[in-house]
Amino acid sequence: MTAQKKLPLVVLISGSGSNLQAIIDATAGDLPAEIRAVISNREDAYGLERARKAGIETRVLDHRPFPDREAYDRALMNLIDGFQPGLVILAGFMRILSPGFVRHYHGRLLNIHPSLLPRYRGLHTHRRVLEAGDTVHGASVHFVTEELDGGPVVLQARVPVKAGDDEQTLAARVLAREHIIYPQVVRWFAEGRLSMHGDRPHMDGKPMAGPLVIDYRQDPGTL
Ligand code: GAR
Repeated sequence: MTAQKKLPLVVLISGSGSNLQAIIDATAGDLPAEIRAVISNREDAYGLERARKAGIETRVLDHRPFPDREAYDRALMNLIDGFQPGLVILAGFMRILSPGFVRHYHGRLLNIHPSLLPRYRGLHTHRRVLEAGDTVHGASVHFVTEELDGGPVVLQARVPVKAGDDEQTLAARVLAREHIIYPQVVRWFAEGRLSMHGDRPHMDGKPMAGPLVIDYRQDPGTL
């Protein structure tokens, strides 16, 4: 067997970085990808510590000194492009991205969002699900387009909303499944099975009809 070439990744974070950790762990296994850098807009993001522990380069680019979003995003693009990634991964990067940024990385920019998109775009998804009385919730991995949380979804994890849930218990149930579906999608991309053509994700050379779904509602491992 010939060794597969590793896909260079740059991961953007703002916080805990548990999804980053899941991807670090996968690259330490047989995911054919290497994280060239982890970039945060916040210097106190715990994910930076996770990256350092794994021997990965880190950078902090604070958004606050920049006059506007476009100026920050231009600087961010420069920083990212210095690492020449084949895929840019948003892993809890809590900033809205300018159209220029999104266009620049079209087809090689993934995000994970804690809801079953197109439901509950934006913030506080777990709270809103509880308020609505939904019985099912989950997370979505999607390609990023100019529409906020609106790009085509590749893979979703469904989990139950249980009686007695609060935001914390529900968030933890969703997050545990995020850690499975995000590395999975990165793997498909790194293996060359997943790609974007125009605005449509393709899997194994065929346009995807819609998101793939893993339903964890009956899974005994679900929190
Ligand atoms: C995750 O739940 C992710 O889905 C969410 O932030 C959390 C980051 O956790 N992302 C968004 O809300 C993006 N709009 P992590 O830092 O532990 O990976």
